[in-house]
Amino acid sequence: MSNQDEFYQELLGQTKALISDESDIIANMANISALLFERLTEVNWVGFYRLIEDELVLGPFQGKVACIRIPLGRGVCGTCASSGTVQRIANVHQFDGHIACDASSNSELVIPITVAGRVIAVLDIDSTAFSRFDLQDEKGIMSIVQVFEQNISV
Ligand code: SME
Repeated sequence: MSNQDEFYQELLGQTKALISDESDIIANMANISALLFERLTEVNWVGFYRLIEDELVLGPFQGKVACIRIPLGRGVCGTCASSGTVQRIANVHQFDGHIACDASSNSELVIPITVAGRVIAVLDIDSTAFSRFDLQDEKGIMSIVQVFEQNISV
């Protein structure tokens, strides 16, 4: 097992321990963003946007103040929510429509939160480094998101 695998296994265990006995979605978003912000290196913003009536609305996060509302389909987060696909962007400045909440962000990983086949939110992780996130990061964060999705009762 690589160091990266071990790191994400540990992070997955910590996520399960944090949220398994709690069903409140906002509380769990808050603790997951705090955990990821603390443990991931070179990360300047971690948080959730909830999909409410065709708009992404800022949810629990760690980092600098951010844009509150993002239209579906706009920027990296809006594209993730409208397409339901992971957006792993090596250089956000080359992403058409990128919304620069924090000018120091250079790369970004955005994962859709899907419950009963519908995107209900996205998890956005920003980095000051270019190409900060590789496929292993994507898989590691996705396994954490899966635990979160399974915990949500609708
Ligand atoms: N950069 C994002 C906006 C959200 S913030 O970075 C917190 C985007 O283009 O969707």
